[in-house]
Amino acid sequence: MQSSGLITFEFTPPGEDRELLAVATPIRVEGTVFGALIVAEPKTELRERWLTLFERLALAFLGGIVVAGFLAWYLSRRVTRPVLELSQATDEIARGRYDVDVPRVPGGGEIEHLATRFREMATRLRRTEELERNFLMTVTHELRTPLTAIRGHVAALREGVVEDPELREASLAVVAEEAARLERLVGDVLDLAKLEAHRFTVLEEEVDMKRLIDRAYTSFSEEARRRSIDYREEVRAEPVIVSDGDRVLQIITNLLANAFRWTPDGGRIGLELAAANGTVSVAVADTGPGIARRERERIFRPFFSHDGSGTGLGLAIARELAVALGGRIELETEEGVGSRFELVLPAKSA
Ligand SMILES: Nc1ncnc2c1ncn2[C@@H]1O[C@H](COP(=O)(O)OP(=O)(O)OP(=O)(O)O)[C@@H](O)[C@H]1O
Ligand SMILES: [Mg+2]
Repeated sequence: MQSSGLITFEFTPPGEDRELLAVATPIRVEGTVFGALIVAEPKTELRERWLTLFERLALAFLGGIVVAGFLAWYLSRRVTRPVLELSQATDEIARGRYDVDVPRVPGGGEIEHLATRFREMATRLRRTEELERNFLMTVTHELRTPLTAIRGHVAALREGVVEDPELREASLAVVAEEAARLERLVGDVLDLAKLEAHRFTVLEEEVDMKRLIDRAYTSFSEEARRRSIDYREEVRAEPVIVSDGDRVLQIITNLLANAFRWTPDGGRIGLELAAANGTVSVAVADTGPGIARRERERIFRPFFSHDGSGTGLGLAIARELAVALGGRIELETEEGVGSRFELVLPAKSA
């Protein structure tokens, strides 16, 4: 065989029985062939070397397969299995079982992020469902109480048990009072439901805050006089803003009603109107019992109430209304000293 001046040939040297493989190339000096360089190796040795190479390749191949197998196993453990478990958990949640165990995926990365968010979502769904159930139970309970009273009195009146005209009058008064309470409760629950569903329409009209505050103030002045409460109105600004007057009045009346309920006779209640930095604020400050630290957030939840006479919807509605009007309610309070609820509204003008 000959390629580019290389000649390959096999031969058996005289007196030996092994075959050699040789490569020869001519050596030229200035164009004339001077001699030849021949390199020869026994053929068996070459075959052995080839075999070693083959063995090593096979070993490397096997090693590669083992490493690839390990990698596949590791990735499936880290990626596929958690995803599979997550998808099973989603199926459970889709079926309405929110207490499902969402798998924990350690080691960071997208899958862990997904699992964590998913767990949070399941927890929130569970809590919402619980709140909804509680809400429904409380509403039912609150509706049933006045209904029971009404039925009792009506039954007694029909059966002629109450003969004394004065007692009959008192019975009728209870019926009327409880009916009014029912009406208020239904209105409140409806308000809250609408507010939470963001289906609440607020008007945009010019509201003279000074006049509004005067109205709110006057509706409690008689009670203040009767109970010797030092009741004051303090007007530091007279802003006219664009908002929903009836709703603003509803919030302030709510805060005042609470202040009057919790302030003892002879106490002090202040109603303040101020304006600063693009906001208008109405504060109701009282010398009532104050609110414990752990209850400062809870009092704004629906149906949280300390005494039986209230439904615990007042502050929940007030806060939702304030938010719907683009504002908020702030609370400063100290136990044994008093409370100060402040409605802060954006000072939009016409
Ligand atoms: N000015 C206040 N001083 C002390 N505690 C208050 C004051 N205002 C509210 N609270 C506490 O917050 C709770 C919730 O108030 P909220 O107005 O929501 O309900 P309520 O007054 O009990 O009932 P409702 O207003 O629905 O008739 C009250 O029961 C009371 O414990
Ligand atoms: Mg109240």
